[in-house]
Amino acid sequence: MSTITDDLTAAVADAEERYVAANPGSHGLHVERQRSMPGGNTRTVIHVAPFPLTISKASGATITDVDDHDYTDFLGEYTAGLYGHSHPIILGAVREALADGICLGAPNEYEAGLAAAVCERFPSIDLVRFTNSGTEANLLAISLARVHTGREGIMVFEGGYHGGVFFYATAAGSPINAPFPTVLGQYNDAEGAARLIAEHADTLAAVIVEPLQGSGGCIPAEQGFLEALRSATTEHGVLLIFDEVMTSRLSPGGLQLATGVTPDLTSLGKYVGGGLTFGAFGGRSDLMELFDPTRADALPHAGTFNNNVLTMAAGLAGLTQIYTPDAAEKLNASGDRLRERLTAAAAERDLPFFASGRGSMIGLHFGRPPLRSVADITGDPGVLGALRELLHLHCLEHGCSYGRRGFMALSLPLTEEDHDKLVQAVEGFLDERGDLVRLAA
Ligand SMILES: Cc1ncc(COP(=O)(O)O)c(C=O)c1O
Repeated sequence: MSTITDDLTAAVADAEERYVAANPGSHGLHVERQRSMPGGNTRTVIHVAPFPLTISKASGATITDVDDHDYTDFLGEYTAGLYGHSHPIILGAVREALADGICLGAPNEYEAGLAAAVCERFPSIDLVRFTNSGTEANLLAISLARVHTGREGIMVFEGGYHGGVFFYATAAGSPINAPFPTVLGQYNDAEGAARLIAEHADTLAAVIVEPLQGSGGCIPAEQGFLEALRSATTEHGVLLIFDEVMTSRLSPGGLQLATGVTPDLTSLGKYVGGGLTFGAFGGRSDLMELFDPTRADALPHAGTFNNNVLTMAAGLAGLTQIYTPDAAEKLNASGDRLRERLTAAAAERDLPFFASGRGSMIGLHFGRPPLRSVADITGDPGVLGALRELLHLHCLEHGCSYGRRGFMALSLPLTEEDHDKLVQAVEGFLDERGDLVRLAA
């Protein structure tokens, strides 16, 4: 006799079969990529079973795959795609910069404006430097903290993601993490974190924290947790770094503005570069001035593309002409409404499913709240993985795309009708698959 878990396995196999049949072009390109890239992949997070869709073009909030299916894009390039895929102001800024030539090997006309806009928006940032990725921004911010304090260690939190070499999904951390001595805290455990900071004060250069864990499942930090980090780090002369690579979009000045907790250093990335390759770190001027190249003891920080002209132009246009404080408030309010609707859909059916996050960042979860840290995700990993895949394939069949793990980042061109479409797809899934969803309880 088949069990309900067998039914789940069979449902995933069926859904995969339909997906393979519907996507021959994506399948073929996946096979081709496998010949010269490990597993056909150069970016772990975008690999999904049985193979990812290959996207051939995109416009507004719509992406189109090589088999000519359109999807409403709720992934928003993991927060970098805030402006959508073809905002006329972004395209105009890039075209204008492109027309004047690339690879200038010198300061350009755009970077002062982007730097000024960043400093104006984010309370902790007196001075800023640009990088090519959020990973690099964190590497530089941490390295600066180590130089400034003369200490080596960093404190991170379980479930934290700060880039390809700063990944702490489990206590062990990724085997390719940068080899900094690390103290691991529990997210949202204010007392525990304060205790660890005090215990390790002699060796800690910095505490680095996402004020909402994005990759970990869109888990917001509690106000008391951030305040405890601020006071314990201040007391012990440890620097506090907010990784706002994702969360900088969650208010006009990131979560540091929204919470009133000001770190010493902040890292940025994603949409702040207008949708092009970008990272930045900034903070207190007495720290950042160590990079002033006119100083005899200046810290060196080169980087061929740190100020690449296309990113600088797109980022400047985006931050000053599109993602105004008012636009930020509106986008995040729309995210709050969507999250409530998704959670309500499951609550009305008494099913173990909910949406987490804040503002325009949404995490879909099988299980029940509260979700204060990754330690609260206690379901059978095999069952949770199968349910995530089933929901994802279902939503794709209904024209909605997002990150397989349940990750969504809203973009400006999404409309209320787009939200309705997603809510209907999720409601349909809960109606059809309620028995399987109950396995997550
Ligand atoms: C919080 C956080 N920090 C850092 C990074 C790394 O940024 P990048 O992918 O630009 O290296 C990411 C990427 O998703 C992130 O979510």
